[in-house]
Amino acid sequence: MVEAVGLNVFKFPARMIPGCDLLTDSGTTTMTMRQWSQLLLGDESYGSNEGYFEFKEQVVETFGPQWENRDKNFENVFLFHQGRAAEAGLFTCLGRILKSSRAPYYFIPSNGHFDTTQANIEANGFEARNLFCKEALAKDQQARFKGNMDVAGLEALLDDPKMRERIPLVYLTVTNNTGGGQPVSLENIRKVSELSHSYGIPLMFDACRFAENAWFIQQFEPGYADKSISEVVRLMFEQVDGFHISLKKDGLVNIGGALVVKENGFLNKNYPELQGALTGHQVLVEGHPTYGGLAGRDLKGAVEGLKTVVSHGFLDYRISQVQRFGAWVDEACGADVVVKPVGGHAIYLDLDKFFAGTGLADGQFPGISLTALMLVAGHRCCELGIYSFGRNVDGKEIPPDPRVNNVRAAVPRLCYEDIDLRAAAEAFGVLYQQRGRIPGIEVIYGQELPMRHFISRFRFKR
Ligand code: F0G
Repeated sequence: MVEAVGLNVFKFPARMIPGCDLLTDSGTTTMTMRQWSQLLLGDESYGSNEGYFEFKEQVVETFGPQWENRDKNFENVFLFHQGRAAEAGLFTCLGRILKSSRAPYYFIPSNGHFDTTQANIEANGFEARNLFCKEALAKDQQARFKGNMDVAGLEALLDDPKMRERIPLVYLTVTNNTGGGQPVSLENIRKVSELSHSYGIPLMFDACRFAENAWFIQQFEPGYADKSISEVVRLMFEQVDGFHISLKKDGLVNIGGALVVKENGFLNKNYPELQGALTGHQVLVEGHPTYGGLAGRDLKGAVEGLKTVVSHGFLDYRISQVQRFGAWVDEACGADVVVKPVGGHAIYLDLDKFFAGTGLADGQFPGISLTALMLVAGHRCCELGIYSFGRNVDGKEIPPDPRVNNVRAAVPRLCYEDIDLRAAAEAFGVLYQQRGRIPGIEVIYGQELPMRHFISRFRFKR
């Protein structure tokens, strides 16, 4: 079957996976009893359903009073069916406002854009630029906040007027998925915010895993040990002018997304046309803005999810399980192959370490081989490296710069027992012991397509 789906893990039937499905932590959450009870209370009215109002209230409750929608002529919560739809909404509208098609003139700096964010930015004529911090680039195994943005790099860009005028907004992804699920410190958030705001440039969060990020701040950043997760979350969100979120992660639901704009923030100030443009876009692609492509019950589930996710007990259990999983994989491999420190939602195996000494070249995409063989062993994970982040232009491979080369095993929330994850760790161990026998692959379809890892087909080189 693995060969029948062209070694593409996304195309493998989920019901045929006997072990752990670690493809993603997105939308794979097991919802709580309280969430299910809310689903039953869903109000499925076409316009202004109950969940919409409750969601807006919960945004204020979770992220802080600055997110209240006081001006009734202004909408600040834009619902979408998932995170990338919110990204598409933002960048489509911003692209039109800035007439970015003569591009790429404008660019969006980030601590690490996720692939869909990057794709949406590029599809609308902007350039996506990652400013990974030096600890991340140096693969420092000790640094606690490897998701940080390189502040000096941002400063150099913003201090140069010719560069500055090309930056419509700055992004921070919390936690930094592309950089290995690593957290961003409050100190870094504050510095990036001060710097961007000193030039009147809006700062946005890609807030998919905001609660997990807050947990790391509480645990490891000096000065926050006595703050609750909710308090840390509010401190984080004081610093930004807007955020988009895929509720499929820390919203603890199976579908949903939103773009939220701070009424008094720079995003609203700099782009007053944005609100109208977003509403128009929602009507065109999602439905009435008060349901934004979601069932009323989905919104109720998300409201309950946003309440649960900031509980310390939940986060402690969730993140410590991911940390244990990382330790088991290293133990099973008898080697230091997992990216350290382990992030909040997934473990990342460093392919450069895993395949060191095997002679497999980048162009043989050994990460794809590893994920295909993990499927044979009964578990699903995905490559996030040379294939997923690289591109092929006119037959020439362009690797991601800076280099990212991992296989990710993401842990769904409230889904697996430790013993399940131990089995997946053992499978990695067996493949590591046999790594000298793992063949490379060749791409038989889709090498030059955008977001190619989702659709490509491969076969083992014999
Ligand atoms: N931003 C980040 C940081 C993400 O991790 C994702 C999704 C998105 C945006 C897009 O959200 O899927 O709701 O459209 N990440 C999933 C993953 C797919 O597996 O990491 P979406």
